[in-house]
Amino acid sequence: MILLPEALLPIEILLQMIIKKSLASSYCITMVSEVLLKVHVPNSLMYIDGNNTESLVELMLNASEAGCSDYIIQIKEPKDFIVAFDKVVHMGNIRRSDRRVIILPPKYISDENVFSHDLLEILSLRETSYITNVLLVVPTKKTLKCESYELITHKFVGIDNNKEPMLLDRWDSCTNSFENNVNLFPHDLSNLQGKTVKVAGFTYKPYVLLDLDTKLMPLGRDGMEMRIVDEFCRWINCTVEMVRDDEHEWGEIYDNSTGVGVIGNVFEDRADLGITALYSWFEEYVVMDFSAPIIRTAITCIAPSPSLLASWEMPLLPFSVYMWAGIIFTFLYASVALTIAKGFSTDEVFLTTFGIMLTQSRPDASFRSWRIRSVIGWMMMTGLVIDNAYGGGLASTFTVPKYEKSIDTIEDIVNRQLEWGATHDAWIFSLMLSQEPLIKQLLSLFRTYPSEELMQKSFRKSMAFSIEKLPAGYFAIGEYITKEASLDYTIMIDKFYYEQCIVMLRKSSPYTDKLNVLIGRLHESGLMLAWETQVALRYLDYKVQLEVKLSRSKRDVENIEALGLRHVMGIFFIYGAGAVISCLVFIMEILIHRKSRKISIN
Ligand SMILES: *[C@@H]1O[C@H](CO)[C@@H](O)[C@H](O)[C@H]1NC(C)=O
Ligand SMILES: *[C@@H]1O[C@H](CO)[C@@H](O)[C@H](O)[C@H]1NC(C)=O
Ligand SMILES: *[C@@H]1O[C@H](CO)[C@@H](O)[C@H](O)[C@H]1NC(C)=O
Repeated sequence: MILLPEALLPIEILLQMIIKKSLASSYCITMVSEVLLKVHVPNSLMYIDGNNTESLVELMLNASEAGCSDYIIQIKEPKDFIVAFDKVVHMGNIRRSDRRVIILPPKYISDENVFSHDLLEILSLRETSYITNVLLVVPTKKTLKCESYELITHKFVGIDNNKEPMLLDRWDSCTNSFENNVNLFPHDLSNLQGKTVKVAGFTYKPYVLLDLDTKLMPLGRDGMEMRIVDEFCRWINCTVEMVRDDEHEWGEIYDNSTGVGVIGNVFEDRADLGITALYSWFEEYVVMDFSAPIIRTAITCIAPSPSLLASWEMPLLPFSVYMWAGIIFTFLYASVALTIAKGFSTDEVFLTTFGIMLTQSRPDASFRSWRIRSVIGWMMMTGLVIDNAYGGGLASTFTVPKYEKSIDTIEDIVNRQLEWGATHDAWIFSLMLSQEPLIKQLLSLFRTYPSEELMQKSFRKSMAFSIEKLPAGYFAIGEYITKEASLDYTIMIDKFYYEQCIVMLRKSSPYTDKLNVLIGRLHESGLMLAWETQVALRYLDYKVQLEVKLSRSKRDVENIEALGLRHVMGIFFIYGAGAVISCLVFIMEILIHRKSRKISIN
């Protein structure tokens, strides 16, 4: 049989015209229909049998993953398709903001009105509201010779009634032409006419600041990422509505497909965009759309500054451990020499040796022999050298302050088993999958505490706090770090990791592409750096910023100091301990002596 043009059904002719007009650049089209429609497609076609609705999701998923993400649908229950479509979007790995869907009337039209009503119902589905480009072909009139169709889409833009049908065009098989000949997929998101875009976020400086004084900021909100969203809506004429779950901050997605916080709000479609320092986390990427990177941030910690060494240690500092061992050995050796010289008499040997090593003189009466004198002479010379060396060392420990070792690297944190933390686990999401032993140890030291507890801990210097270093040189530091506490903290040299901040959206969200264009322009113009500086200067505590920024260089200034009580405290310690011990011994002596006297009297 020769396939004459007349052999084509009117609906096929119409479809062919629509394809030519609107899907000419489509890479691959998925067709779900009960019979294979005779149309010619520009590239490739994936045909799915519409009678077999059980495995519709799996078949469509396979097609979508292969790149066939424009759809022509002609099945009995188009609602099934919309539900399956939403599942496929969420399960698949292919993301596209501008998937196009054409829904044809089911095959068996008996009563047109009933069916046209049925078709329009699709537009009221929640799932449909996330598809920008959906085209319904609704039959209106059927005579023997002619069939006419209306081409309908949803309103999509505007403040309300986004789900209302919108008539685009009419087509009649007798005239074989469109009435208006307009663009059949008109929603290019260039003007949303005030449509509400819901944004999830919470106050986290300098990314997002909410609840500001409306006298200063008309919208009551500001921040690096907030400005992106506000600019986005200024560009495409939408209205921002904040969706908040402040308590859970970044939040998380649970295994039961629910979620909390910013991530949960976007995941469960309570918000269209999610912002506030969201990093390109793997777990979230699997179930959501990411925008292009906005801000590259470096995560590190401020750790307690090394404190001055305790002053009682100071008398020990001039000599190293080996030197002290050598001195003890010298003392013993000299004592033995003196004992031998005295003809193996240990009378006052240790006291004499100790005294001479501290260059103390001895009453000479007992040392008549030259043998003893020469030994003592050599000992005196040794004592002189040691004494002078110690004196010199002590002078330098007194004038140059001695600190504990500082915390500079990840190894330092791990070696000291120093806790580090913040208010939320989000800080370690990026490291969670790491196999490196060092990073795993670092993770085991991470803790989360409520803000107030963190503040208390910051005064006690008992843990390190994670902070972000932003591209223009400012820091994102939790509010719990006050100016007073920041004086005692030093920024680490090592960066734990670098991350890209992104905006999270529902998978295949209509906004992703548009937002990426805006982000590209923002980077191109350098506005992101300017915004960071503006927001930082306006809202961040400049003293804290400066303290953290200069925390590594400030110790050079206070280098040499005058002697104070602090320096000699250690020596008084030793003196005090000696005095107490001698008093005790003295009292003991008297007691024991009295007893023995009593015994002797008896
Ligand atoms: C989808 O693709 C997978 C792997 O490519 C294959 O195992 C599976 O059978 C396909 N599903 C269907 C329904 O064809
Ligand atoms: C933006 O949307 C509003 C409706 O909310 C409309 O009145 C206004 O004209 C639109 N602006 C532009 C530039 O189209
Ligand atoms: C999902 O799981 C979370 C935590 O496991 C729980 O708090 C929440 O109530 C669960 N939600 C539902 C709908 O089961």
